[in-house]
Amino acid sequence: MAFKNRDVISINDFSKEDLLHILKAAKSMEKSRPNLLKGKILATLFFEPSTRTRLSFIYAMESLGGKVLGFDDTKQSSLQKGESLWDTAKIVEKYSDIMVIRHPVEGSARLMAESSSKPVINAGDGANQHPTQTLLDLYTIQKVKGTLNNLNIGMVGDLKYGRTVHSLTNALSHFNPTFYFIAPEALQMPQNYLEELRQKNIKFVKEENLMKVSNKLDILYVTRIQKERFPDPVEYEKYKGYYKLDESLLKNIKNDLKIMHPLPRVDEINKKLDSTKHAVYFEQAANGIPVRKALLALALGKIK
Ligand code: CP
Repeated sequence: MAFKNRDVISINDFSKEDLLHILKAAKSMEKSRPNLLKGKILATLFFEPSTRTRLSFIYAMESLGGKVLGFDDTKQSSLQKGESLWDTAKIVEKYSDIMVIRHPVEGSARLMAESSSKPVINAGDGANQHPTQTLLDLYTIQKVKGTLNNLNIGMVGDLKYGRTVHSLTNALSHFNPTFYFIAPEALQMPQNYLEELRQKNIKFVKEENLMKVSNKLDILYVTRIQKERFPDPVEYEKYKGYYKLDESLLKNIKNDLKIMHPLPRVDEINKKLDSTKHAVYFEQAANGIPVRKALLALALGKIK
């Protein structure tokens, strides 16, 4: 399918061939292309905090010769006065060629895409999806493991509210994985994702104790307990600090295990693991740049 003017809202909107095409385009973006998006404008509309996603989109656009406008604090926009997201998209499309939105409400990026005639990229909508994170996660896995196929993928932490693990589960399902979902029952992968895996005959194991399965894993994808998504702060208190990975993990893993994390981390990975050959989470964040460059260039029709 053509990528020009295409929205990036859910990873499920992309076939396996689409995903592989974007990863190939990202690889080509490792080379400098300083004028590729000259004259183009990206609008960044962030209604929730972000370090990596927002800054890497800005970096990607500017290093391809484009310009950026936008806000990272909702108090700066007329949504404060009651303007709808629908109308906001209608206005921002007049000032920009493409927009990136992060919003706490599930479905908000889809709504803006329906309103806007310009491409919209979802930078995270509530606990739903974070497709550009998933693309950089796939890019990282491909780089560090040499393949996306037939891997044992562990996901640990807050699998209920973590949008990155939802998108990544969907995307990796194309590549015959075995999933190990490691979480207390209250934070386990939601039923609809498990049902999809059953329908696709994809193997998965639910487990609470990481050490029981850690030696089977090729990738361990660690997530933060998503404090901001818990409806009840008492419930959050129960689970905060539930998993704290440290050097004791290294006694029971494959030699080539790679540890990933979408970041930010709180206390779920001890800094002592950062300097081990297993930690790839900072490299993973850096991979956001070629991936987001590729998404911008594809949507704006500057590469195919
Ligand atoms: N991984 C990620 O989305 O990070 P930010 O919240 O800093 O953008």
